[in-house]
Amino acid sequence: MRPKHLLEPSLKEGIFVVPKSYREEERASFPSFREIFGNDNPVYIEFCSGNGDWLAENALKNKDINWIGVEKQFPRVRKIWSKKKNHAIDNLFIIYGMGEDFLLGYPVEGVVEKIYVNFPDPWPKTRHAKHRIIKSIFIEGLLPITKLGTTLTVVTDDAPYAKEVLKEMEKHPLWQNSFTGEMPKDYGASYFQQLFLAQEKKIHSMEFVRIG
Ligand SMILES: C[S@@+](CC[C@H](N)C(=O)[O-])C[C@H]1O[C@@H](n2cnc3c(N)ncnc32)[C@H](O)[C@@H]1O
Repeated sequence: MRPKHLLEPSLKEGIFVVPKSYREEERASFPSFREIFGNDNPVYIEFCSGNGDWLAENALKNKDINWIGVEKQFPRVRKIWSKKKNHAIDNLFIIYGMGEDFLLGYPVEGVVEKIYVNFPDPWPKTRHAKHRIIKSIFIEGLLPITKLGTTLTVVTDDAPYAKEVLKEMEKHPLWQNSFTGEMPKDYGASYFQQLFLAQEKKIHSMEFVRIG
């Protein structure tokens, strides 16, 4: 069980805690992106950030972009936070909680330009399917924070999961497949990406753009 102080939304040292029990009615407690970052720079969000290798690398490389990482496991959030502190990454903000809960209960600004999900857990067993993050509640939850032209990039090593992501996204006509067949050369490498590449696994990349 989470310690008591993590049962309520809180904002401390660049980490916003999203408790499971708080939903729609708590929207007001999330500060605006301007309040968080102190500027109006573009906002990019990575869900399922893990230990934050990819996120920290990109935030350091792109200081004129405001980066948000969403991660549900506290030990991993702590690792992202250490990277933020050690490298003074002021353009990086961390959400500790489930991506779906954050989308349902907190942000209301339709300004996020890019969404990334790198190596989400594929949960291959059918009885665990509800744990997969790319599902209707998540995809619909992206609408209030995104705008026309926002892109969603999903990268996975799991071929069946890649197919499922394409199928899930097809159910949502406001998002169109926009993958060109190649990832940007400077995309960056996450911890799991390096692990899977070392195992010579094929990496499946997808991109979708919001068209409505
Ligand atoms: C396989 S790891 C990938 C981590 C990182 N993106 C990488 O590529 O190294 C998946 C991560 O997603 C997190 N995660 C899974 N479901 C989540 C959810 N619904 N909301 C937030 N984080 C989630 C897990 O805790 C885990 O750290």
